[in-house]
Amino acid sequence: MSRGLFENALAEVKKFYEASTELSQFKSFPDNDQLKWQELEPYYINPARLFAEDTTLNSDEYSAVKDALVAVKDAAFWRETYKDTSIGDEFLNRFGCYELFGWEGHFHCQESRGFIVYSTGDLYYPWHHHPAEEMYFILAGEAEFATEGNAPKMLKPGDTVFHAENQPHNMQTREKGVLAWVQWRGEMGIAPVLTDRLNK
Ligand SMILES: [Fe+2]
Repeated sequence: MSRGLFENALAEVKKFYEASTELSQFKSFPDNDQLKWQELEPYYINPARLFAEDTTLNSDEYSAVKDALVAVKDAAFWRETYKDTSIGDEFLNRFGCYELFGWEGHFHCQESRGFIVYSTGDLYYPWHHHPAEEMYFILAGEAEFATEGNAPKMLKPGDTVFHAENQPHNMQTREKGVLAWVQWRGEMGIAPVLTDRLNK
């Protein structure tokens, strides 16, 4: 029953994705024959509700994709990547992520993995890293992104940030929450881990 809603979300993602030179050059959007719907049992977490209610995500340019993503929030397979770590309950209750297309996504895709990420305002996502190269594309709200050795930079809708292979990065939201597309390429089989040496 939710398939149509996900297909709508995918179509909306494709629009901004292909309109973004940065994203398209980083990794081309999958062809239709590379995307195969797979039925995933929904997994609901508290941040899904906060996402739908977050009035700081108002964004003129990307409101259609935001609405399409809100429409699938109850049917999505939300991840708890950091559940068994030291990250704490506040983070787990206010940060959410799921894979729209990819190896374990609502649309199976072998060649690419793309994720929806949401955080409430006033939340710190500690230093973490992963072998995949990564590009964030901000859809709504805003957040400060930092990579190791570089000052944080506030990113707003339409902005992108690139994270190299295993380059530690963190994210801090302030007054607003943030909604972003996260695209991977390269070594895509290893989940993010906290960068303990930087999280003191
Ligand atoms: Fe990352």
